[in-house]
Amino acid sequence: MAGDASDPIVRVRDISVRFGATKVLDGLSLDVKRGEILGFVGPSGAGKSVLTRTIIGLVPKIGGSIEVFGVDLQTADPTARRAVERRWGVLFQQGALFSSLNVRQNIQFPVREYLNVSQRLLDEITIAKLGMVGLLPEVADRYPSELSGGMIKRVALARALALDPELVFLDEPTSGLDPIGAGDFDDLVRTLQRTLGLTVFMVTHDLDSLHTACDRIAVLGNGKIIAAGSMADMLASQHPWLRAYFHGKRARAVVG
Ligand SMILES: Nc1ncnc2c1ncn2[C@@H]1O[C@H](COP(=O)(O)OP(=O)(O)OP(=O)(O)O)[C@@H](O)[C@H]1O
Ligand SMILES: [Mg+2]
Repeated sequence: MAGDASDPIVRVRDISVRFGATKVLDGLSLDVKRGEILGFVGPSGAGKSVLTRTIIGLVPKIGGSIEVFGVDLQTADPTARRAVERRWGVLFQQGALFSSLNVRQNIQFPVREYLNVSQRLLDEITIAKLGMVGLLPEVADRYPSELSGGMIKRVALARALALDPELVFLDEPTSGLDPIGAGDFDDLVRTLQRTLGLTVFMVTHDLDSLHTACDRIAVLGNGKIIAAGSMADMLASQHPWLRAYFHGKRARAVVG
């Protein structure tokens, strides 16, 4: 179900991010609406991961504002900030799991950081989250090196869901998976979004995901959002990058 336009969960206005002399984001504005799966695309190196990390406060911005759940994270006091952080989950593109921790410890990590709960409850949460992402309880004792790529992505999603978030950031969750595994993962995200009422910000290069899983698509180029709308809007766009991306050889295989 698409969200209500009047009620953005994430509101980014006119932000810029630079590393040395390089400006990666340049006056970028974007809304993520309540309850939607927003697919975020753009060329490799355009700044998709940087924007994700800037929204969650890991990369400093110059100018503009970012509100999440109506709270400006830059001006919020530490208590208010933590309260907001507790309401989101993140699946990072790199280093999806801590390699020195087993699956149980990985999933419990964010819970320990934000809540003071008993070991028994932590173990119950772990099994519940593994079940949510379609993994058996015995996976809890394994280390990341003992898991397949698809299982790592599922465990990383379970960890992102550990605190029962309202909002999740997924940075290329299906990269490296075979098309069937990626399709299963998309279905899982879709089901979780519907059943838990999640809002999802998903960076992806996967055209199948954009077609089947996303309610809306935003495209990053030259540090700004160059297009945002439905798949039909993307297909109708005359912008050269959008035409190449959505009507190129790989796109034709998906659109038919
Ligand atoms: N901490 C950093 N210090 C310096 N430069 C950085 C840093 N993080 C990112 N960059 C640069 O910012 C640019 C955008 O990187 P980013 O990882 O956001 O790209 P992306 O759109 O996510 O690409 P991909 O699709 O390949 O994941 C790149 O040129 C990258 O080298
Ligand atoms: Mg990236």
